[in-house]
Amino acid sequence: MSDHYAVIGNPIEHSKSPAIHAAFATQTGEDVVYGRLLGDLDDFAGDVRRFFSEGGRGLNVTVPFKEQAWRLADERSPRAEIAGAVNTLIPLKDSRVRGDNTDGVGLVRDLTHNHGCPLAGARILLLGAGGASRGVLRPLLEAKPARLTIANRTASKAADLAVTVASLGEVTGCGLDQLGGQRFDLIINGTAAGLKGEAPPVPEDVLSDGGWCYDMMYGDQPTAFVRWGLEHGASKAMDGLGMLVEQAAESFLLWRGVRPETASVIRQLRG
Ligand code: ATR
Repeated sequence: MSDHYAVIGNPIEHSKSPAIHAAFATQTGEDVVYGRLLGDLDDFAGDVRRFFSEGGRGLNVTVPFKEQAWRLADERSPRAEIAGAVNTLIPLKDSRVRGDNTDGVGLVRDLTHNHGCPLAGARILLLGAGGASRGVLRPLLEAKPARLTIANRTASKAADLAVTVASLGEVTGCGLDQLGGQRFDLIINGTAAGLKGEAPPVPEDVLSDGGWCYDMMYGDQPTAFVRWGLEHGASKAMDGLGMLVEQAAESFLLWRGVRPETASVIRQLRG
């Protein structure tokens, strides 16, 4: 019998994860069935318990349940610990569950493997201090940038977040309006500004000549921040579709011990 996996979220009907994992299963020959679960906003824990008690082998977790999944996990990977959010659940013995977070490593792999963006020694600006930014902090710092600046509309949240990872590298937090005179080789957008079709307000000259822009969001059309990058001299401006596929591949690897090839799946989704 096939092993059952699913992504749980609310809403969930537009999730691309089932298509991504179906492609991985075909490619690797793993006997996997991967579905969608509409999570109960009032009983996420009950949904998770039921899925695993019925023999489910792993869950991906998406909006709005990632923080609840973090709290529910009986043990957590170090990267999930810092992220404060869990996107991958793995059943253990005795009804225990392990939580991991593959978003950050997905971002780093997309940048380095798929786009050839050098992170070691780079000056990186991370925009936003919400869940999306928190989720990628540890893997980003493990890539050894020269420095990482977290800038947020609400400056205090960026400063607080920087403190939580101060032991991992050269990292500071500030307001979006405190970036004047600074230049960065790579700017990563983790704000929710794109939901309103906007790019976050940053100084016009904050991107170094030929620098790179990366939006963790993606869409059928270039996102507002990708457009901002292209208009401000980025040598490359990328959206987060590759990150979506790479985080899925990391989850698949955790569950199955096999790393799927991602380039063809990204191409397929770009359609
Ligand atoms: P998520 O968990 O998806 O990251 P969140 O925790 O609500 O969502 O965080 C959203 C982030 O986008 C925050 O950093 C927010 O800034 P504030 O902390 O000041 O609220 C940022 N954000 C949302 N809308 C924005 C906008 N129009 N311009 C700039 N930043 C914005």
